[in-house]
Amino acid sequence: MWQPEPYRIKMVEPIRLPGRAEREAHLAKAGYNLFSIPAEAVFIDLLTDSGTGAMSDRQWSALMRGDESYAQARSWFRFYEAVKGFTGMEHVLPCHQGRAGENILFSEISKPGLTIPSNNHFDTTRANIEFYGAEALDLVVAEGRDPHKIFPFKGNIDLGRLEDTLKKLGAAKVPLVMCTVTNNTGGGQPVSLANIKGASEICHKHGVPFFLDACRFAENAWFIKQREPLYKDKSVREIVREMFSCADGATMSAKKDGLGNIGGFIALRDGDLARRLQNSLILREGFLTYGGLAGRDLEALAQGFEEVQEESYLSARVGQVADFGEALKSHGVSILEPVGGHAVYLDAKPVYPNIPAERFPAQTLAVALYREGGVRGVEIGSLMFGKKREDGTFEPSAMELVRLAVPRRVYTASHLSYVAEVAGEVIKKAGQEKGYKLTYEPPFLRHFTSRLAPVS
Ligand code: F0G
Repeated sequence: MWQPEPYRIKMVEPIRLPGRAEREAHLAKAGYNLFSIPAEAVFIDLLTDSGTGAMSDRQWSALMRGDESYAQARSWFRFYEAVKGFTGMEHVLPCHQGRAGENILFSEISKPGLTIPSNNHFDTTRANIEFYGAEALDLVVAEGRDPHKIFPFKGNIDLGRLEDTLKKLGAAKVPLVMCTVTNNTGGGQPVSLANIKGASEICHKHGVPFFLDACRFAENAWFIKQREPLYKDKSVREIVREMFSCADGATMSAKKDGLGNIGGFIALRDGDLARRLQNSLILREGFLTYGGLAGRDLEALAQGFEEVQEESYLSARVGQVADFGEALKSHGVSILEPVGGHAVYLDAKPVYPNIPAERFPAQTLAVALYREGGVRGVEIGSLMFGKKREDGTFEPSAMELVRLAVPRRVYTASHLSYVAEVAGEVIKKAGQEKGYKLTYEPPFLRHFTSRLAPVS
């Protein structure tokens, strides 16, 4: 029997749909960059699922029990026991968010001449690896690179290519292998336990540590329970333990499956590596038992790590995102399939076949969603990845997508069916759009601060 969300709403936060003229004015003022629109002028905000979730009454009451002692606070021990509980790892370094942990880890192990493979590195992971000089290598399976191929585990690592890479380079050139669960870059796609085990075995045969980027570990475990026959009778908690049992370490942004608004950690089995990272943690984040977080944050996260593994929650969570994908399709919107755990990705190419990549079709779609209904998503297309070649021609992104990420426990089914309807209206009016041109472009990470103007 189908079950709705296993919670009800005790506190509400008002949101407002600004009028059409006001939305148009905000767009013009923001240079048609949705990162510059004030959040108060956004009706349904699907920019990210990171740090945007709603905490439970138990998390809010845990917050009140926060122990703000500088060292060895009671809240630290609660956080430590919770993380050790689901990772099975002895050494835990807290940090204020995912990329802070990545920075600390890679400042120690990433060096020129080394290679760090993954299914797909998330942007901040790749940036941290490259900043310290190593090569970040993506080895996702071929199915994961085809946006419309139906395959249960599109986040899997290509084990053949992993084996070849480790054979060729050896342990001296590969300080570790990462696996992102779920694979955000590939659309929030899961990785099977067979694949995690396979990758871990290959790594260990070659003497290379295997790490998880565990931001969405519980959503990944839920997909394993649903799609991998061997695990259908196992509990999510058992699957989570089995996933982590394959790994030597993990980094995590707890802003996702920690159900918190801030936080993260590095977890390790290797005490020597943990000690090598401690100085960097103290220098960059804070003392070993708080890592840039308040005691109350540690409490809320300890509770969040428990709640996120509840199967009734995961069923509603992943089900809501899947239903959202179906609603979008029923309004004629083309999406990446199958839908992942935390977001739906809209394909802008079929919406605007006449807008060339250098006129940013995916940004055109993202702007149109805000103009039509006050909905904010994020462009993942040629505004983010396109480049000017040396000869002056434009090198487009492979895909022109808009990501609509669903915050945890925040929006109702009617909010998301409204968004699907808005998208349907946008598609009907697609013929009126001509695209955008850049009027200001920063030297890197263009999508965050660039300004655009409509092409007339
Ligand atoms: N790894 C993955 C897979 C992520 O999705 C993110 C963040 C990070 C690491 C970095 O964590 O933001 O806490 O520093 N993803 C967010 C997103 C920003 O919108 O997908 P962070």
